Amino acid sequence: MCGIVGYIGNKQAAPILLDGLGKLEYRGYDSAGMAVFDGQEIRIAKAKGRLKVLYNMTRGGGTMPGTAGIGHTRWATHGEPSDTNAHPHSNEDASIVVVHNGIIENYMKLKKKLEARGYQFHSETDTEVIAQMLDYYYRGNPLEAIMKVMHRMEGSYALGIMFRDHPGEIYAVRKDSPLVVGQSPEGNFIASDVPAILKYTREVYFIENEELVCLKADSLNFYNIDEEELQKEPVTIEWDIHAAEKGGYAYFMMKEMQEQPKAVADTLNPRLKNGGIEIEELGMDEEELRAVEKIFIVACGSAYHTGVTAKYVFEGLARIPVEVDLASEFRYRNPILNKNTLVLIVSQSGETADSLAALRQARALGSRTMGIVNVVGSSIAREADSVLYTWAGPEIAVATTKAYSTQLIALYLLALKFASARGTLRKEELQTMLEDLRQLPEQISLLLSHKEKVQKFANRYLAAEHIFFIGRGIDYAISLEGSLKLKEISYIHSEAYAAGELKHGTISLIEEGRLVVAVLTQPELYKKTISNIVEVKSRGAFVMAVTTAGNTEVEKVADYVIYIPETNPYFTNSLAVIPLQLFGYYVAIGKGLDVDKPRNLAKSVTVE
Ligand code: F6R
Repeated sequence: MCGIVGYIGNKQAAPILLDGLGKLEYRGYDSAGMAVFDGQEIRIAKAKGRLKVLYNMTRGGGTMPGTAGIGHTRWATHGEPSDTNAHPHSNEDASIVVVHNGIIENYMKLKKKLEARGYQFHSETDTEVIAQMLDYYYRGNPLEAIMKVMHRMEGSYALGIMFRDHPGEIYAVRKDSPLVVGQSPEGNFIASDVPAILKYTREVYFIENEELVCLKADSLNFYNIDEEELQKEPVTIEWDIHAAEKGGYAYFMMKEMQEQPKAVADTLNPRLKNGGIEIEELGMDEEELRAVEKIFIVACGSAYHTGVTAKYVFEGLARIPVEVDLASEFRYRNPILNKNTLVLIVSQSGETADSLAALRQARALGSRTMGIVNVVGSSIAREADSVLYTWAGPEIAVATTKAYSTQLIALYLLALKFASARGTLRKEELQTMLEDLRQLPEQISLLLSHKEKVQKFANRYLAAEHIFFIGRGIDYAISLEGSLKLKEISYIHSEAYAAGELKHGTISLIEEGRLVVAVLTQPELYKKTISNIVEVKSRGAFVMAVTTAGNTEVEKVADYVIYIPETNPYFTNSLAVIPLQLFGYYVAIGKGLDVDKPRNLAKSVTVE
């Protein structure tokens, strides 16, 4: 869960590396480093802390001349954040340097073997073992040494490597960690993710598992693990460069919340065709949709919360049983799968380690698989039988907002597609629901335009220590997401509860002044949740309710009410989540926190 970048060409490498690392800081930011080669000497600079420490230390890269280099921004896995544990790592005489994203699972065993042969280690990282192993196997041919090391490493890695004996070359390789290669007339690049190099090139190659690339200033050579040369086709990235920048907002999170109407429309509109839903990439015809006996939705964090919502939608509309699993649990619970089950993996990054492992397990057990993924060309997108892309564009803030909203849309579309194929939804009902979906972008815009109302309320709760979210059915799913948004960026403890469950223990935590956020968007459950509000009110809670326009009765019991526009009850999550995202955001901002980079978190969780 780190970011790597590399450049070789006719320009000074260090400023390019620093710039690229800035775009990758969302992948990790506890330390940063780079190695730059001037053809004679490889200079290494690395430092604990944000990238600006490295920037200042090297005077914007000015102290590191050279036209080839590799850089790294770290999220600690093995060894605490420190100058020593920061990458790059090298062999003893710094003639081989390595940056690494991923985890080498058998590094202790490998380290012991090397120690027995006299190697000394200076850091606690698994990456230093790679550098020393390369030293051990290196006989003048980098390709051969790298292949030998690959055969011995277990785990995940994307590596950038330089050899002092081979000026004018950078090597890169990957297994289960993302890696792209960019090409331009001014030189060639490697990166963990496209935004790092988008400023310099739009021509990229996605490196597959166990592929290796040798970069020179004016050439790229790709190899498989048997050292056979490969021909690869470049992909042109169409993203607007500004989409990867903050666009005038103080934080990416606010920018991305504001982008939700567009992201939702982009994900929805191209699939609404000829009075129905057409999902080109679905890869399943109506007969195949009818043959599915059970759906498993598997994901982590917020993506999992979209699955909790989707269960209600699929079961309610398509009458098909759905199980929702946390990917980290699913992969170890021996699920009952067969050719008539469909496993949906929901993931913004498409690289989440547990989700990817769950996908592989589902495939191994004979199930059909589908990814709902935002990052084109990511591992989940490539490995699933089919993929339904969410078109949210790059999401930089660690806390997901626009990707979450587009995941909901993809799941609604799929549920409606299943319902149509299985004949559980009348044509007129489908038409009304499609019309409701079409309204969502505008309704989301409306809610965003009232953000100051949420801000005013949020400012009263900056000192809160515990906040509860309650709801029933889909409102419970919304509560899960509202609670996660708040806690991950504001560091206030928060829990979401199915409103009827509170009295089975947790209600003992309700005391004078405790904030309870109640979500009431489901007409059939509205009165039940009102009763639960009364229960917490009578124990001293202060209640903020989020409900549908027209439900004015709630004002009699709640202290503060936020209304969302009317929509089909199956789609209310798309609207109710907006004030909850804003609430978490403004509480965190009010506390002076960096909402884009909350402590202990990274955007892409590529370790188990
Ligand atoms: C929370 C958040 C995380 C992710 C989770 C899955 O705001 O962003 O909970 O939803 O880590 O990530 P992806 O969707 O990339 O698999």
